[in-house]
Amino acid sequence: MDLFADERRAVALGPGAVLLGGFALPVAEGLMAGIEAVGRVAPFRHMVTPGGKAMSVAMTNCGAWGWISDRAGYRYQGVDPLTGGAWPAMPQGFETVAVEAAAAAGYAGFAPDACLVNRYAPGARMAPHQDRDEADLGAPIVSVSLGLSATFLWGGLSRGDRLRRHGLHHGDVVVWGGPARLAFHGVAPLQPGDHPAAGALRYNLTFRKTR
Ligand code: SIN
Ligand code: FE2
Repeated sequence: MDLFADERRAVALGPGAVLLGGFALPVAEGLMAGIEAVGRVAPFRHMVTPGGKAMSVAMTNCGAWGWISDRAGYRYQGVDPLTGGAWPAMPQGFETVAVEAAAAAGYAGFAPDACLVNRYAPGARMAPHQDRDEADLGAPIVSVSLGLSATFLWGGLSRGDRLRRHGLHHGDVVVWGGPARLAFHGVAPLQPGDHPAAGALRYNLTFRKTR
């Protein structure tokens, strides 16, 4: 493991889950450029929940499959409902850092086919939930934080389990799989700030193998 060879710090969140502090920092600039390129083809939008409420987090996708929500439910789709075209390809640098982070966390051979791109403005939040729309629950989730810092809420396998708070900063990566694959997690409302690489915003890349 080269995890401890430099400034990176790994924090175990529980069996199967780890926060790799600063893991994506060396490639953060390229990831930010990739987000901008993805957003030019598939614009960020506020999706609607099945209950009809607009989500506070703006989203887009890259890769073969994109996660969407609308009145009909949550699902993965190969076509962007906003543009009617395919989602933009996953930039090579995205896939590389996701595969390397998964391997560093003990999940060798991760092959993501979807990357959800979340954009948080101040006040935006993600209520605790499980990532369970993927057919292949054997693959981990790889989640990269960029821009403003946020507070990650990390729970257990039951909705009622206590949520622990962890700071997520520019370049941090969280990987969860195996016994933690269906752990509840969320993000507390984003606090205002000014980040040199992202201004008033936070971005998150969530890599998944959907099938
Ligand atoms: C998510 O759970 O989809 C988002 C996690 C994050 O923004 O860090
Ligand atoms: Fe999630």
